[in-house]
Amino acid sequence: MKIGIPREIMTGEARIALTPSACKTLINTGHTLYLEKQAGCGSGYSDRDYERVGSHIVDTAERLYEASRLIIKVKQPLAQDISYLREHHTLFSYLHLAADLSLVQHLCDIGVSAIPFESIVDALGTLPLLAPMSQVAGRIATMRGASLLFKNRGGRGILLGGVDGSDSGQVVVLGAGVAGSHAVAVAVALGAKVDVLDLDENKLQLLALKYPLIGTHLSTPETIERLCIDADLVIGAVLLAGRRAPVVLKRSVVEQMHEGSVIVDIAIDQGGCVEGIQATSSERLSYVEHGVILSAVPNMPATVARTASQSLSSAILPYVQALSDSELAVSSQSIALQRAMAIDKGRVVDKVLLDEMGAKKARTSL
Ligand SMILES: NC(=O)c1ccc[n+]([C@@H]2O[C@H](COP(=O)([O-])OP(=O)(O)OC[C@H]3O[C@@H](n4cnc5c(N)ncnc54)[C@H](O)[C@@H]3O)[C@@H](O)[C@H]2O)c1
Repeated sequence: MKIGIPREIMTGEARIALTPSACKTLINTGHTLYLEKQAGCGSGYSDRDYERVGSHIVDTAERLYEASRLIIKVKQPLAQDISYLREHHTLFSYLHLAADLSLVQHLCDIGVSAIPFESIVDALGTLPLLAPMSQVAGRIATMRGASLLFKNRGGRGILLGGVDGSDSGQVVVLGAGVAGSHAVAVAVALGAKVDVLDLDENKLQLLALKYPLIGTHLSTPETIERLCIDADLVIGAVLLAGRRAPVVLKRSVVEQMHEGSVIVDIAIDQGGCVEGIQATSSERLSYVEHGVILSAVPNMPATVARTASQSLSSAILPYVQALSDSELAVSSQSIALQRAMAIDKGRVVDKVLLDEMGAKKARTSL
């Protein structure tokens, strides 16, 4: 299989989908690896590192797409990437299609096949390719929130963990999944007071066992309002797999929060779980509305590109192998890939995505 790895062009994106050692594994099993010049630099991997394991360095993105059939990327394609995609390409990357139906249309018009990383479900029912980046994003969310609370960043002037004779900061985490539980881990380690909400009682119970001092709550609009109004930091980490993120934090609640409090919406890549929130970026981390600081970066793990690339690369490698060896024996990975396929040669085949497209059409025709 001719596998191409383009350089990521999203603002602040420094990750690469496969490390040199993962490329070596693929080359040793007979595949050809093309890498766009300097694609690994942001993660500390030089072109020479990739050449040493037998990858071919290609000068331009255009030539890379021409040479390759399977495109492995980190983030969804932007306009320039889309202009190089052709019908013979299979795209394997984070895509978040339910949050961007115009991207679905572009990919269908070209006739490509597309498999989102975040749609891969393993035999245990977990999301093994979303999980590593959710772990990173959850941890960063608390650290980012903690620093935005500093007075010189516009925040309330609160040290989350507090010190002798002072109150600790109050953190509310919406969603007790992978990102949410990692956000809780850092908040607890810092010494903050933590409340976490979810619809899934089992996840809440597990967190309560691990961190006996936190508050766990079934998620209802009333509980969200009661807890968030007084929070110093709210972290949005909800997900309904394959769907646009549910809007769980209403503008009317944000308006009642303290001036200088902070919201970090991790779920922005799926459209955001805070009503009306706008995506921010590594260049413009946050903005202020109703006196509250809002941060919603869709590629948070890019901040720690080397850690994130290593973790992502080892998670996706078995699936890249299964995709590349498609004529070989059926494996658990190849079954998961088939089930996760969102677009097959220009045709949307994912039922949840079709459902989201139907719902959006119904809303806009009202
Ligand atoms: N911004 C980034 O850089 C970045 C990076 C990684 C992941 N993410 C996003 O983070 C989000 C969370 O991912 P995850 O891997 O933790 O997912 P997950 O499935 O592990 O957890 C999501 C949790 O949200 C809960 N939930 C759903 N609706 C809810 C509601 N109304 N109230 C409370 N809880 C609710 C679910 O029960 C689940 O426990 C996703 O949107 C994912 O795409 C963003």
